[in-house]
Amino acid sequence: MTTKSIDITLKVWRQKGPGHKGRLETYRADNISTDMSFLEMLDVINEQLTLDGREPIAFDHDCREGICGQCGSVVNGRPHGPEQGTTLCQLHMRHFNSGDTLVIEPFRARAFKVVKDLAVDRSPLDKIIQAGGYVSVNTGGTPDANSIPISADIAEEAMDAAACIGCGACVAACPNASAMLFMSAKVSQLALLPQGRPEAAKRALAMVRQMDACGFGNCSNERECEAECPKQISITHIARLNREFIKAGIGSSVF
Ligand code: SF4
Ligand code: FES
Repeated sequence: MTTKSIDITLKVWRQKGPGHKGRLETYRADNISTDMSFLEMLDVINEQLTLDGREPIAFDHDCREGICGQCGSVVNGRPHGPEQGTTLCQLHMRHFNSGDTLVIEPFRARAFKVVKDLAVDRSPLDKIIQAGGYVSVNTGGTPDANSIPISADIAEEAMDAAACIGCGACVAACPNASAMLFMSAKVSQLALLPQGRPEAAKRALAMVRQMDACGFGNCSNERECEAECPKQISITHIARLNREFIKAGIGSSVF
């Protein structure tokens, strides 16, 4: 197999820090191998910027295998770029053509402050998880397999919800900058299983309250979140979250 290379133009959001004004800067990215990942392409740009004595582009990443949720930028208006079900670190340059111009921006949301360039502070998502609290069922040691009967369908659905990597692309994609898809995945993965049932409603209420406190918007069924989620988390989880929230609200002062 022969390796192709492409020449592209990048317009990258550069911002010194949270209180600074940002702007798009243009860079040439010539002779980029189509076998490279998007982040490897940015590494090449950064190497050149460093050799030129200029500030490299700050961007978040860790595993580069689509599992940690650290990477994420908006490429030509789409969180994680144009490929469905793909994180930015798993996006390959073969999906672009020579002569393309790519506009690369940070995830934008009121709750995500720009730390520098493409790196944003996604700790509000951690705060939502913390608000959900622990599962207080005493699980003891490792139980025997199948000692708690769970149907294959339910186990699958819980696993699908647990695939959320907390990247925040759903927030960046949503016109309301809502964290509902993220939060619903976290609520579902526990609420579907017997061990997570006792606190399911309470957890949903606490997480929704924290989401509001962090400045995320509300869900208005735009479905942009589902379309851009690299783990293809379904919005059916939002319906489950809403049911748990209503259960928690009945009899409390929430309504
Ligand atoms: S629901 Fe999808 S887009 Fe949102 S944080 Fe989880 S993996 Fe990322
Ligand atoms: S760097 Fe870990 S998911 Fe992209």
